[in-house]
Parts: sequence; C-alpha cells; structure tokens
Amino acid sequence: MAQRTPWWRGATFYHIYVRSWRDSNGDGIGDLTGVCQGLDYLQWIGTDAIWLSPTMPSPNTDWGYDVSDYRDVHPDLGTLADLDLLVEDANRRGIAVMLDLVPNHTSSAHPWFIDALSGRTATYRGYYVWAPPKADASPPNNWLDATGRSAWTYDPSSGESYLHNFLPTQPDLNWWDERVHEEFEQILRFWWDRGIAGFRIDVAHGLYKDALLRDNPPPSALDHPMLSRSALKPVYNSHRPEVHALYRRWRQIADGYQPARALLGETWEFDYERFGDFYGRDGDELNLAFNFPFVFSDLQSVSLAETVEATLAALPPGATPVWTASNHDVGRFPSRWCGGNERAVKAALAVLASLPGTVVLYYGDELGMLDVDVPPELRLDEMTILRPGREGRDRCRTPMPWSAAKNAGFTADGARPWLPIGEHGSINVQSEQADPASVLNFWHQLSLLRREGRLGALADVERLLLDDQIWAFAVGDVATVANLSDRAAKTKLGDIGTRTVLVSTGLSRHGQRVPEEVELEPWEVLILAPVAP
Ligand code: GLC
Ligand code: CA
Repeated sequence: MAQRTPWWRGATFYHIYVRSWRDSNGDGIGDLTGVCQGLDYLQWIGTDAIWLSPTMPSPNTDWGYDVSDYRDVHPDLGTLADLDLLVEDANRRGIAVMLDLVPNHTSSAHPWFIDALSGRTATYRGYYVWAPPKADASPPNNWLDATGRSAWTYDPSSGESYLHNFLPTQPDLNWWDERVHEEFEQILRFWWDRGIAGFRIDVAHGLYKDALLRDNPPPSALDHPMLSRSALKPVYNSHRPEVHALYRRWRQIADGYQPARALLGETWEFDYERFGDFYGRDGDELNLAFNFPFVFSDLQSVSLAETVEATLAALPPGATPVWTASNHDVGRFPSRWCGGNERAVKAALAVLASLPGTVVLYYGDELGMLDVDVPPELRLDEMTILRPGREGRDRCRTPMPWSAAKNAGFTADGARPWLPIGEHGSINVQSEQADPASVLNFWHQLSLLRREGRLGALADVERLLLDDQIWAFAVGDVATVANLSDRAAKTKLGDIGTRTVLVSTGLSRHGQRVPEEVELEPWEVLILAPVAP
C-alpha cells in the first residue's frame, strides 16, 4: 500500500464500476481480472486506492446493491481467488483495494430473508423490520421507498409488512437486533483478514430506523433543494443518531489492523454539522465521508467556494475531507458540471486535485468521459425505470472507453457489452494518451503533484479572491486561481503573483512567473507555487 500515514489521507481514490471497466473474457461484462489488467493504467493516473462497486453475489435487481452472500464474489465478476490475486497485484504497486459493503439491506434472496419469510417465529425474522398494517389495511406508516412508493410490502402469510427503503427486493435490516451487529463484525473481519483495505459503506446514514416508526414530515422551504424535491423528509426511516455508536465500534475494529482499514461512508447528508458528525466529534468514527453538498453544488466560483468553506468549517479537527463530483448514482461531472466543455472539465479536475484531502475520481472522470444517453429499451436500472421523470442511472454506468475501436477496447469486438458503449469520439484512453493537451494528460500531471504531496496535503483553505468568475484559494504555500466561467477574466493577483505556474489549464504558462495583472481565459486555472530560492 502507499507510503502515507494513514494511507488514505490526501490519497487519490478511483471508483471502478466493475461491470463496466474492463472485460477479460469477452462476455460483455467487466470483471476482476479486467481490473488486474488495468493496474498499469491505474498506477499511471496516480491511484492510491480503488473502490470496487459491489462484488458480492446478487440477483442484480439493484446491480449488486442487493447482496445474497456477503462472503463471496459474484460469478459474473470472477471468483474469490481472482479477488485475492487482484489485492496482491494491486498492493505490490502501492494500490489499496476497497470493497463496497451494503449493511442497510440484503437481497430478498439472502438466506436470512428467506428464513424470515417463513413466519413470525423464524430464527432470522428479527433481522428485518416488520410491522402490521393499519386497521384500514394501509401500510404501517407513510415512509416511501426510493421509487416513491410505500416502503412497506405486505406479507400475507404472516400478516405483517416488511420495510424496504429501496426496492421491495432489498429488505432493510433491523440494526436494533444485536445479532445483526455480530454478523457484520464477522463480515468486516472476513474481508479485512484477506487484505481488503477498507469499505465504502452504502447508505451509511441510514442503518437505524426510528424505533417508534413515526411518520416522516414534509420538507420545509429551508431544506436543501435535494430534500425539498422529495414528498417527505427522511428523518425517521433513516438519519437516526444511533448509527454513530456503530461506527465507533467499527472504527475500533478497523484500527486493530495493520495498516488500519478505512471506513468511507456514503453519507447522504445536507446539513453540514450532521455531516461532520460522521467523522466522530472525537475523530473516532468514519475516516472519510462523501460530501454530497459538494457533489450537488455548481461549478461556479461563489457556489463552490461557499460549499467548500462550509464543509471545512463543519468538520472536526484533523478530519480528512473527501472531494468527489461523479458517481454511479448522480452522473458524471463532465456532463453535469461542464456540459461537455473540455476546458471546464480541466478546471474542475484542477480544483478537485488542489483541495486538501482525499479525492475520489469515478472511472472516466480522468478522460472527461460523458454520460451516455441510453435508450429506454436498453435501460437496466429498475430503480429509475420505476421512477419516470428522474434521470436514469444507466447513463453513468456505461463501459469505459479504452480506445476508438469497436466496443471501445472494453470487450472483444464480437461481444455484446451489457450496457451500450455510446459515442465517445476521441474521449478514450488511447487517443488521450497520445495527445499532450488531453484531459487525461492534464490529470496525469496533477496526479504527480498529488503524489509528491504538493497538492492534497491537509491544510486550511484560505480564500484569496472571490467574485462571480474567479475563486482563488491557498492551501499551504500553493495557490489555485480558477476562472470558473466561460468569459475571460482580468484580475490583479498581487502577492499571489510572486509565484510560478506549476500547472495551468492552457499549456502555455508552465514554469512562468505571472504578471501582477493577469487575464485568464475562460475556465483557465493556474496552480502557483513560490519561486524556488
Ligand atoms: C446507494 C448506492 C445506490 C443503491 C442504493 C441502495 O445509494 O450508491 O446505487 O441503489 O444505495 O443500495
Ligand atoms: Ca467478463
């Protein structure tokens, strides 16, 4: 693993949606051996750790987020032995391997749930959340699942309903049952004993449900736009405070390993203080937590600066922020933030790379890969198919473009990729490696600075300039000056200017001193360091 202490702090993570990254056997589905084959590339783009989307056996009603066995590998992706090999090969190159853990719910095909369905006195009944319908036969309360329907499914044979915050095939586990804790502690150890470096914890804010199953209230006008678009505010079916004691316990287990294993939470939280709580006020909970206010801010100077500053103000001392802008649910930032504008993509990467803390790139971000318009008849994500009007998630799960060949070098020429490849033009690894001005080569340059610790090191973010175009900030002795607009911007850099250009999004300024007054091109970013004595 990488030579950092701890290894994940200020590191560069790369999120691989395994089914779509690289197919080693021509069945049209990316796999673990494919990931092994891509390790040279991962090293070249400066990866310290990979997080693999779910790898465990699953009926795939939610593409692996419906786990039917927590101790094995999905046959589409390979075997346990393939995973062991990947860990070994990756570790040899200083790359840690993180898996995705889904503790909020299992698949309805999991043996625990199959047993639970056998009746009210079944051994595993208490592993899930059950409640009787109301007298008028309506669901136990008003909770909604991720498709906008009731979160309860009635089981006629026992006369009770079970809870599912996502699909009916994803029954929620009951974290009030001690046995569930024991099961998951064993699952953590099973993987950590095998050399898995940590987990991304799915729905990390959601495991506990209100013990009284109280109705959720409607959102208020003061709520973050991501909450106010929902019919109800999820305060009782998730976001319960009891989860913090669980993470303190998991952290103790993680810290018992050498090197310590990492916990990275999918913390879907828009209140900054509560977001900060996931790190533990004594720094004793999650090591890393995804920052959704940042994901959903705009690539605009004031919005981004304010989000970053509010995040940093809310984190406990010593916490490592996580910067990410794309994932398999929310879409790709080159589309969402940048509308496909390559200059804006470079600007976003420059800002991501120069903020202090850990960066998580989603596969393809380093290329400026765009969302793919997957036609309705080829869509596979049931959760969004059931929710017309919401953007589907298949668009950001399509195969990685490795080359301009048929099937993009992702799978054999004659194979049928599980999701369509899409049209990527010159946005592919091979073409971009050959082009010095590509997004990929730009990221490579940034990654070298992160490797050297010149970018990404933990330090305060000091605001140097902020107007409706430019955000300039310093982290330690490195200053980033970003024109986050599609208009040229003239500005006086003052003291900042007595530095040289480490990186610029235009190729022309590298190594130069910048004049006192500088005109930045649209989306131009300069990363400046003090002149060497
Ligand atoms: C998380 C995952 C998402 C999944 C959901 C249910 O939000 O990122 O893909 O559908 O949890 O497991
Ligand atoms: Ca395959």
